[in-house]
Amino acid sequence: MVKIAPSILSADFSLLGREVKDVEKAGADYIHIDVMDGHFVPNITIGPLIVEAIRPVTSLHFDVHLMIENPENYIQNFVHAGADYISVHVEACKHLHRTIHQIKETGVRAGVVLNPATPVEMIRDVLTDVDLVLLMTVNPGFGGQKFIPNVLKKIEQVRRWRDEQNLHFEIEVDGGINAETAKLCVAAGADVLVAGSYIFNNKDRREAIESIRQSISD
Ligand code: DX5
Ligand code: ZN
Repeated sequence: MVKIAPSILSADFSLLGREVKDVEKAGADYIHIDVMDGHFVPNITIGPLIVEAIRPVTSLHFDVHLMIENPENYIQNFVHAGADYISVHVEACKHLHRTIHQIKETGVRAGVVLNPATPVEMIRDVLTDVDLVLLMTVNPGFGGQKFIPNVLKKIEQVRRWRDEQNLHFEIEVDGGINAETAKLCVAAGADVLVAGSYIFNNKDRREAIESIRQSISD
């Protein structure tokens, strides 16, 4: 079953709790939370305080995507705030294997993220350690950008490695996902779809989520 993870980056922040509840009711599987520090990416967004504030609003898993430098210094804070998954960028980790295990030791699921221009070989040696591989389908930093189709062949490659080694991590895509691009990603092997603007810019979140489900089942 393919999962859909609305990114709250495109939600109305003045009503954040209500927005989270709304996508939960509309059929979301995870809540995707984009954490940006103004260094790793040119934007500043959400910190652990906000994650903690919305934690009581839903029982859905919080999928926390760290777009920050030195992510190892903030893992405890996000675990404490209520993260269920914490994903770190390979481009931001000097000691990727260590950071992944630091996340796992807390009991939270660990993910590794690749920017569109980063070769997929960079994560090959940690595939046995992760619970999630997140392939960016835009350059991280902002919602509402255009899907980069070159990433499709990376999805296929990661899926092949997973099948060959009989591993069980989830394959997630993030950026420019709508009903059309979702279909391409699922055909390539993705099983979690992050969508921000496509879901939150539609007044009817259920309709947006359903249109993705419809398109990937055609
Ligand atoms: C981009 C973020 C995404 C973003 C996706 O840096 O990681 O999660 O919110 O937004 P859309 O779906 O609008 O491309
Ligand atoms: Zn994200």
